[in-house]
Parts: sequence; C-alpha cells; structure tokens
Amino acid sequence: MKIFSGTSNKNLAEKIAKDLGTGLSGLEVSVFPDGEKRVRILDKVLDEDTVVVQATSSPVDENYMQLFFIIDALKRGGAKSVTAVVPYLGYQRQDHMFRKGEDVSVKVIAEILDTIGLGKLITVDLHSIKIKEAFNIPVVELSALSVFAKVITEKGWRKDSAVLVTPDMGGIRRIRILSELLDNMPFAVIEKNRDLATGTVSAENIEGKIGKKAIIVDDMISSGGTVAMAADLLRKNGAEQICVFATHAVFSEKAPKILQESGVNSVYVTDTVFVPGEEMFSKLKILSVSKLIADELVD
Ligand code: R5P
Repeated sequence: MKIFSGTSNKNLAEKIAKDLGTGLSGLEVSVFPDGEKRVRILDKVLDEDTVVVQATSSPVDENYMQLFFIIDALKRGGAKSVTAVVPYLGYQRQDHMFRKGEDVSVKVIAEILDTIGLGKLITVDLHSIKIKEAFNIPVVELSALSVFAKVITEKGWRKDSAVLVTPDMGGIRRIRILSELLDNMPFAVIEKNRDLATGTVSAENIEGKIGKKAIIVDDMISSGGTVAMAADLLRKNGAEQICVFATHAVFSEKAPKILQESGVNSVYVTDTVFVPGEEMFSKLKILSVSKLIADELVD
C-alpha cells in the first residue's frame, strides 16, 4: 500500500504512515504564476493499492481541488485502488436545503469524487447520519468517541459526579454512544437556536440535570460560539468544572480567543484538522486519531 499526502494535514498523514510502519510516498504540488496548482505522483503506482490523506478544512476549496487532482493522478498512474482518507470532510454541514433556493454542497462533492473514480472514502465523525447517503461509493466513518472516553476515564471523571452535555439536539446520537462507553454516564441536552442568516447562536434551556462537572461533546468547533454559549449556560446552572471534547478543530479566525476566554477549563480536539502554532492556546489539548485510521487501512 502506498500512502500519499496532500498539503492540508501532512502531520497526521505522517503519523498514519508511521503507525503502519512505513513512510509517505512522493508527491509534488506546484503552483503556476496565476495561482493554479498541479500535482505529480513521484512513485510508481501501477497495480498498487493507494491512499491519499487530505483534510478538506480551510482553505476548503483549495484543499478539495488538490484532493481531486491527486486522485486523478493516481488513477492515471494505473493505481489498482484509490482510497481517500479525508479526516475532516468539508462542506458536510450543508447536507440538505435549510432554506428555499439553497444548494446541497455535500452532494456536489460526493458526485465529483464518484465521477473522478475514487474507490472508497474513510472519514471521521460526520455531522449527520445522512451524509453517507450522498455517496455511491463505500464510506467508512470512524469515531473519535473511543479516544475521548479513554481520556475522560483517565481524568477520573465518573458517572456519579460528571454529566455529558450536547450543545444541540443534533448531537444526541453522539452523546448516547459516549455515555455507553462511559458506563452510562448521564447526559443533558441544550436546546440551541442558530439564526440561519447571521449564524448567531442562543440557548436558554437545558434538558437534564447538571452536576458540578460538565463535559461538552460536539463534532466540531468553528467560531467557538456554541462552546462559549454552552459554558455560560452550564455555569449558570451550577457547573464548576467544564471541559469540551470536539473532534474537528475547524477554527475560524477568532475561535482560539473566544475559547480561551470562555468559561471552559479545557478544550480537547483531535488532529483531523491541523492546528498551526498561531492558533494554539493554553486551554487546548490535541488528541490523535492516527491509530484509528491506520487500523482501518489494514483491516
Ligand atoms: C452544529 O450543529 C455543530 O455540531 C457544531 O455545534 C457547530 O458547527 C459549532 O459551530 P460554532 O463553533 O461556530 O458555534
């Protein structure tokens, strides 16, 4: 198996290759003077099983184009199979028309990947169960929840003193699974509202009992608004220690500052999205999903 990496998350690609006892195969990305890019596979891939690792986080369009070009180059090189590891799948939040006149972005992405001949997609913690249905190729969805459960257990947070919290109704499936992994830890649900035009979030109610320790669980953090809002509400309801576990650090520009200044004590994310040095903050801790992905690749 030959593993190639796009430029969006080479750190994770290197870890996956290391976990598999190998290194990354050669790939060149060059830029034309007008900004257009092209890729070139530097290893022989004829009759080989190949894997390309590329998160499609920001800059999302650029990262997607690179992924498409790498898949095309691998196909043209005669690869026997092409599997894409897209640890964070961009455009997945637009999985249906929320308002009249909108597009369904994830469907467009799925159709392009299909058309250019991708064989299989491996991804981590999708935003909704509907997303896989947009694809006609096999989609394997791995989950960081087992990684989170391990850390929560190691922290000594138990079901008699801690409560899992989903900041919106869409996270109920996720939190039920995590609760089971944690010996049926109790959970609560925040009723979040998001203004579809401005993106502003608000919430007043929590369904469920809140103890002194609260664990907010989400699939991604983008602006940080959801976490900040949830932390305020939890503090008002008696929580004294709050930590956040979110799979994808899709940080927008102000997210690190908002999270650092929010009422949470620590923010755990995974390395599905690369977090550059300038986005790091002291409350942030990064866990790795490389082993989950490596195990899936040899399964
Ligand atoms: C929403 O449905 C998601 O699960 C996340 O809660 C949301 O995308 C987080 O976005 P933000 O950090 O911008 O509030």
